[in-house]
Formats: sequence, C-alpha cells, structure tokens
Amino acid sequence: MSVLRVCELEDIAPDSAKLVVVNGLKLSVVRIEEDVFVIGDTCSHADFSLSEGEVDTQDKTLECSKHGAAFSLENGEPQCLPATKPVPVYDVEVRDGTIYIKQAELVPGQTSGDSA
Ligand code: FES
Repeated sequence: MSVLRVCELEDIAPDSAKLVVVNGLKLSVVRIEEDVFVIGDTCSHADFSLSEGEVDTQDKTLECSKHGAAFSLENGEPQCLPATKPVPVYDVEVRDGTIYIKQAELVPGQTSGDSA
C-alpha cells in the first residue's frame, strides 16, 4: 500500500495539534511524546478546525475549541456532546523523522454519516 507524506515530525510540537493540508485534505496531526495521530481536521458537529483545540495527553483526545466535543485520537469517536459522529482516522507511519499516512485510507471530507 502506498503512503502519502504529511509533514516532518519536528514540525509538530510535543503534546499539540497542527493543521496540515495534504492533497486538499485538512488533517489534524497530533503528537503526544513520540506517538503521532492523524485525524480529520473538521469537527463533525460543525465546520470548525479541530487542530485549534486542546490535546488531552492522558485520554488521547483532541477537544474542539468551538463547543467542547472531544474526539478520540485512536478511533475518531466523539467522547462527549455536542458531536455525535466520528471524524476520520488515518493510519500513521513515521519513518526517518517524516510522518506518512496510508493513501488507501484517504477519503476527502467527513464521513457522510454511514454507520461504520
Ligand atoms: S463545532 Fe466542534 S463541537 Fe461544535
């Protein structure tokens, strides 16, 4: 399976999130120590950038700073209201200091509400 370069690991400050746009996809790239997570950047509650929110390093969630829904970095599921739908989660590979995602996982935009 081919992979797509996202950014350099050093571009992401530890315990923070950053918006990276790859092939038109808005991604939140989150680093917790040496672990890297990539989820869709657009909150499933409304059109707001998740990368502007707070990273919870204990629960491994990213909180939307608009209304406070927190999304799991591991499965994209909202952990609290007002969001009820997950955001996309991408398989991550870090190689030689560069972050990649698996290309077959790329789906532009949000999921359309299909129950997974
Ligand atoms: S826009 Fe994210 S919780 Fe409302």
